[in-house]
Amino acid sequence: MWLRPSAPSTVRSPPSSLAEPSPLATPLDDRGHDVLRNALLSWGEANRRDLPWRHSRNPWEIHVAEVMLQQTQVDRVLPRWNDFLERFPTVSSCADASPAAVIELWDGLGYNRRAMYLHRAAVAIDAEHEGAYPDTIKALRALPGIGAYTARAILAFAMEHDVAVVDTNVGRILARLVGRTLTAPEAQALADSLVPPGEGWAWNQTILDLGALICTKKQWQCGDCPWERSCQWIGKGPDPAVGSAGVSTRQSRFEGSDRQGRGRLIASLRHAAVAPEDMAAVMGWPDDPGRAERVLGTLVRDGMVEQIDGLLRLPV
Ligand code: ADE
Repeated sequence: MWLRPSAPSTVRSPPSSLAEPSPLATPLDDRGHDVLRNALLSWGEANRRDLPWRHSRNPWEIHVAEVMLQQTQVDRVLPRWNDFLERFPTVSSCADASPAAVIELWDGLGYNRRAMYLHRAAVAIDAEHEGAYPDTIKALRALPGIGAYTARAILAFAMEHDVAVVDTNVGRILARLVGRTLTAPEAQALADSLVPPGEGWAWNQTILDLGALICTKKQWQCGDCPWERSCQWIGKGPDPAVGSAGVSTRQSRFEGSDRQGRGRLIASLRHAAVAPEDMAAVMGWPDDPGRAERVLGTLVRDGMVEQIDGLLRLPV
C-alpha cells in the first residue's frame, strides 16, 4: 500500500537536509510517509517505554545512556546509569577524573573500551568545546568514540533534532518493511526520509521500542505491529534483515576468546596492579604466556593498560 502513488499529503515534507533522494528502487510517496508516521507515533503514545534517560535532555546524560545501551541490555543499564551520573554528574567532572576511575565504574557492563572512549570524549568536549556539546553530526563524530549512531542519538534525544538514529534494530525493521536487504546508506536515507518534522525525539524512541518489543530479531508479532499493513515481509519467507548492513550478526563465542582474557585482566586491575609474571594466570591462560603477552599488547595499544614501575595498571 505504501508504494502506491496517491493524493498529495497535508503533512509537511521533511526538511531539505533530510530530503535527499532515496536510493530505494521504490521510494515512498507522501501518503506512504503519512501512513507510516501516523501509525508508529500513535502506537508509541500507547506503548513507548518509560525509561529514565527519556526524561533527560542533557547531552552528557544522554551520551552516557547511549554508550551504555550499545551492547548492553536495557535491564542491565537501568541500575547503572544513575550510579554513573551520581559519580560523574557533568562532562567536566568526568574529564577531570582519570580514565581508571571511569573504567572502574564500568565494572559489569562489559566492553570496557566504551568507558575509555567516554572519558576521552569528555576530555575533548571540556577542552575543545568548553564543556558544551557541539550540535552537528560532523562535530560530534569528530569526538572520540562517537560514531554515526551516537552522534544522531545525542542530536535526537538531547537536542530534539529531526535526525534518524539507525542502529541494528532500526536497520532490521526497515529491511523487513521494504522486504529486501538494505545497504547502510539505503537504511539511513530511508530512516531520514521517515522522521516526521518536529517529532524526531518521539519518532526515534518509538522505532527503537518497536524493535525491542514487536519486531525483534528472533520473534515478530506482526499482528501487534503498527506497520503490519505496510510491511512487505510480515514474517513470510526469508528474513530480509539477515545480511542487511548494520544488522548484527551472531557474536563470536566469548568463552575462551581473547576478549575474555582482556576482560579478566581489566577486572583484576580494577582492584589492584598486576605483576607481569602473574598476567597469564589472571587472563586465564597460565600455560600460554605468549598469548597473554600478545593480548596485553592490544590493551596497551588501545590505551587501556599502562606499565608503571614494572606493574600493569589502569591508565591514570
Ligand atoms: N537503545 C538505544 N537507545 C535507546 C533508548 N534511548 N531507549 C531505549 N533503548 C535504547
